[in-house]
Amino acid sequence: MTTAHPIPPRAAPNAGPGEPPAAGPPGHGGPHSPTDPAAPDGPTASEVRPLRALLGQARPYRLALSGSLLLALAASASGLVQPLVARSVLDSLADGVTVTGPLVLLGVLVVAGALLTGLQSWWQQRTSEQVVRSIRRDLVFRLIRLKVPELDRRPPGDLVARVTSDSALVQNAATQGLVMITNGLLTVLGAIALMGTVHLGLLGVTLGVLCGTGAVLGLILPRIREAVARAQRSVGAIGAALDRSLGAARTVKANGAETRETARAEAAVQEAYEAGLTGAKYVALVQVLSGVAIQAAFLAVLGVGGALVAAGDLDASQLIAFLLYVFYLASPIASLLGGLGMLQQGLGAIVRIEQVKKLPAEDDVDLPDRDPAPAPAGSRGARPVAPPVEFDAVQFAYPGRGPALRGVAFTVPGGTRTALVGLSGAGKTTMFALLQRFYEPDAGTIRIGGLDIAALPRAEVRRRIAYVEQESPVMAGTLRENLRYAATGASDEAIADVLRLTRLDSLIARLPEGLDTEVGNRGVTLSGGERQRLAIARALLREPEVLLLDEATAQLDASNEQALREAVDQAARRCTVVLIAHRLSTVTDAEQIIVLQDGLIRAAGSHDDLVATDALYRELAASQMLVPAVDDGPPGVRTGTGTGTAGDAEAEASSVVDADAGAEPAR
Ligand SMILES: Nc1ncnc2c1ncn2[C@@H]1O[C@H](COP(=O)(O)OP(=O)(O)OP(=O)(O)O)[C@@H](O)[C@H]1O
Ligand SMILES: [Mg+2]
Repeated sequence: MTTAHPIPPRAAPNAGPGEPPAAGPPGHGGPHSPTDPAAPDGPTASEVRPLRALLGQARPYRLALSGSLLLALAASASGLVQPLVARSVLDSLADGVTVTGPLVLLGVLVVAGALLTGLQSWWQQRTSEQVVRSIRRDLVFRLIRLKVPELDRRPPGDLVARVTSDSALVQNAATQGLVMITNGLLTVLGAIALMGTVHLGLLGVTLGVLCGTGAVLGLILPRIREAVARAQRSVGAIGAALDRSLGAARTVKANGAETRETARAEAAVQEAYEAGLTGAKYVALVQVLSGVAIQAAFLAVLGVGGALVAAGDLDASQLIAFLLYVFYLASPIASLLGGLGMLQQGLGAIVRIEQVKKLPAEDDVDLPDRDPAPAPAGSRGARPVAPPVEFDAVQFAYPGRGPALRGVAFTVPGGTRTALVGLSGAGKTTMFALLQRFYEPDAGTIRIGGLDIAALPRAEVRRRIAYVEQESPVMAGTLRENLRYAATGASDEAIADVLRLTRLDSLIARLPEGLDTEVGNRGVTLSGGERQRLAIARALLREPEVLLLDEATAQLDASNEQALREAVDQAARRCTVVLIAHRLSTVTDAEQIIVLQDGLIRAAGSHDDLVATDALYRELAASQMLVPAVDDGPPGVRTGTGTGTAGDAEAEASSVVDADAGAEPAR
């Protein structure tokens, strides 16, 4: 396999160049249609052409599969010839002629037959492993690039099951199943042709019986497919249920919810069992049917043929020859039906794989390693000036929700610090998400350095930004891996620098394994504050043009917070900083503070301006004891220069201060 792994050009329903014109899946009104979260599949089963998709998986391996088929045919041919050679050995013995020739031939045939069988089996397995590898690669590639709104509404456990479990079912169908069907079909056709040379009438009788059986099979096979599809959905549901419980293990335990969580998974387990049983029932029925078909054909031929012999229209030897052919049919028919059964299983599973492949993915996150980017992350050298960040009449609503941002406009001058404050749910984190193109605004423009980010590849936008998330910002792995996550080429000195800045150096010194200490799943072995400092260190190491901090110091003690503020201030000399904070004391010296309320900017300015002009801000400040509670007490620390560009700073003293907005940030 080559390393190039281009994303199939069918990314967004509204943007895929290779996509047939967006006739659009029925039931999907548009790119942002509110979809039932309980039905997390993208395209519905009826929009996927399973057989075509399955053959599509096998197509790149057609040569290997033909080879496998040839090996199978050669192995059975060598088996078929052996009795003939054995007979010639016996004949030679009887005639007193030398037997060495036929004996050697027989030996060669036996060994060759065994070798061919072994080779065929190995070749078959190898091909099928290759098929499943390619399916899994595709899925992994795609899942990691799914658009954020898609990931928001899909349980990861279900997606994982599609990579691990569904792919295995397709693997067998796309290789062994297809070979068995072709092998069986060719042999059956050959036998039918030979039977035709013996007696056409009897052939008609045989075909009549076989066609009757085929009709019944036509009814059963789709049921296998449905059962498999149902079982696989349940396997996905088991994954989703487990993912939910294990992902929040402490919450489950703290709330004594083990029984309820078990019951949730149990329901899916039971459903998978029942669907599996249904499938097994139909598979067994197919096997019975293949036996019955041969018996019925035998009896019918015997009856009709017997009558013909009695009437003198057929030789007894002809009848016997024909009956032998009927028996000979048993094995290829079993192979054909076995293959068809396998194919149905694969068809049941491929739908779930195709659904993932059709989900909109971000197709611009893999920039080719071009000539060294203007500002390679983690490297020294002349840095570009920190770019301004601009929101221009930005409106946005999450799919199926009311508006989260209702026309937000402001500018963060390059190389300055702007703080976003406001009650919980005002839309602060949403602005960061839009800045990184996790979602696209419904209207308006966001610019970084004067460039509309909608026109830039996502990779390019995100390369310029370092983002410290509001929650669980640490990945499983070592401390060093986490630090280097954003700047893979960061030098040891650069790492030591940021560790000192974020005061993580003393923690590292205490750890026996230092930077190579594993932080555990989502960083559970670190304290909340350590996790935050690690995330900040990672962001600083990236040497971004724009630094986004979402409640990044909420869990730090006062002295660490002071240190972090200094680190951010230092960084701010080299980049543009936007920070979200509930604790206003951390942002009083920002050049600009923007007060957000219900998706709108209600005021902007410096701390002192806002204390003087905005009732909500004053109330927030008073509740955190930054200003006296009465509204005529303005003094704050006079720092910074107001650069506010927007805001209706009407000073209604009516706002209710949310508990979340207090000094104690909610986690
Ligand atoms: N992924 C999402 N899907 C749907 N709605 C969302 C999503 N994320 C946030 N929201 C909603 O959008 C609104 C704004 O959320 P946002 O996270 O931007 O608030 P915030 O200002 O960061 O609040 P906080 O201070 O509590 O972090 C909220 O009403 C929230 O319920
Ligand atoms: Mg938030």
